[in-house]
Amino acid sequence: MNPICELFGIRYPIVQGGMVWCSGWRLAAAVSNAGGLGLLGAGSMHPDTLREHLRKLKSATSAPFGVNLPLMYPQMEELLQILVEEEVKIVFTSAGSPKKWTEWLHSHGMKVAHVVSSSTFARKATEAGVDAVVAEGFEAGGHNGREETTTLCLVPAVRKATHLPLLAAGGIATGAAWYATQALGADGVQIGSRFALTQESSAAEAFKMRCLQLAEGDTRLLLKRLSPTRLVANAFRTQVEEAEERGASVEELRELLGRGRAKKGIFEGNLDEGELEIGQAAALLQGRPIEPVAEVMAELLEEYRHTARQMADNIL
Ligand SMILES: Cc1cc2nc3c(=O)[nH]c(=O)nc-3n(C[C@H](O)[C@H](O)[C@H](O)COP(=O)(O)O)c2cc1C
Repeated sequence: MNPICELFGIRYPIVQGGMVWCSGWRLAAAVSNAGGLGLLGAGSMHPDTLREHLRKLKSATSAPFGVNLPLMYPQMEELLQILVEEEVKIVFTSAGSPKKWTEWLHSHGMKVAHVVSSSTFARKATEAGVDAVVAEGFEAGGHNGREETTTLCLVPAVRKATHLPLLAAGGIATGAAWYATQALGADGVQIGSRFALTQESSAAEAFKMRCLQLAEGDTRLLLKRLSPTRLVANAFRTQVEEAEERGASVEELRELLGRGRAKKGIFEGNLDEGELEIGQAAALLQGRPIEPVAEVMAELLEEYRHTARQMADNIL
């Protein structure tokens, strides 16, 4: 049996990555109901909001689901208490060291996967006792590793660094890409951008439409000294680029970013002033409509199977 399916009790080794302002209960339920693993993105939720989404999610699916917990979250202890009270069974941690909380999460009956951007971090996560690792490459949407290692180079390196079940992430929007990462040693995939642009995502329609019009090269990894983030070209990004070119200090960049930029861009659909986060894979979706999750999942599976058959026919 596939190690990711076995670990999480799911049908297909497809995880919908936790995404600020996109992955509420509707998106997570749709992915879990289609046989993948849906994750709530706690990174943009107040503790009360997380509890509300967990309750709605539990009434919308009987399939396994999880929560993404960025480890630099300010009200960590409050969130952890809610995970216990709401009997969450799967947690995907990111953006921080898994050393501090993994044992605690295990002691409360939760399985833990941790997102890494290098084989060094994969080794540390393995030592910390996590149950699975997500290797997220440079192409990915959201915050990213400083090393800029692409998925094609990262997945085989992480495969060598850990024996744990491994999910590939970054640039995966098709069944063919899923298949390719499996050839590199991954057991499954974590997909963000493609699901951020579905009907069930809580992102603003204007954000989804803008992202579905992007071409190659329309996203760039910026804010590297603050927290590397892949940004879509807009007025805000131009300000960031200008500031970085003139060597602005970290404090200046922090001030420019201000508070609530990602909410403004992704959730409120302010395409000029907001921070628009999406991965390179958006360009592969150019011109497509905003699709329901069930169609995306069916297409991923069909493409995966088609690719597998094609590859079998092409053995040299
Ligand atoms: C809009 C957006 C928000 C994201 N927010 C988070 C987050 O809160 N926590 C996290 O661990 N990863 C976050 N990510 C990364 C995804 O979980 C996922 O690993 C990544 O999108 C995979 O690459 P892809 O976008 O090429 O599919 C975000 C990605 C996007 C596109």
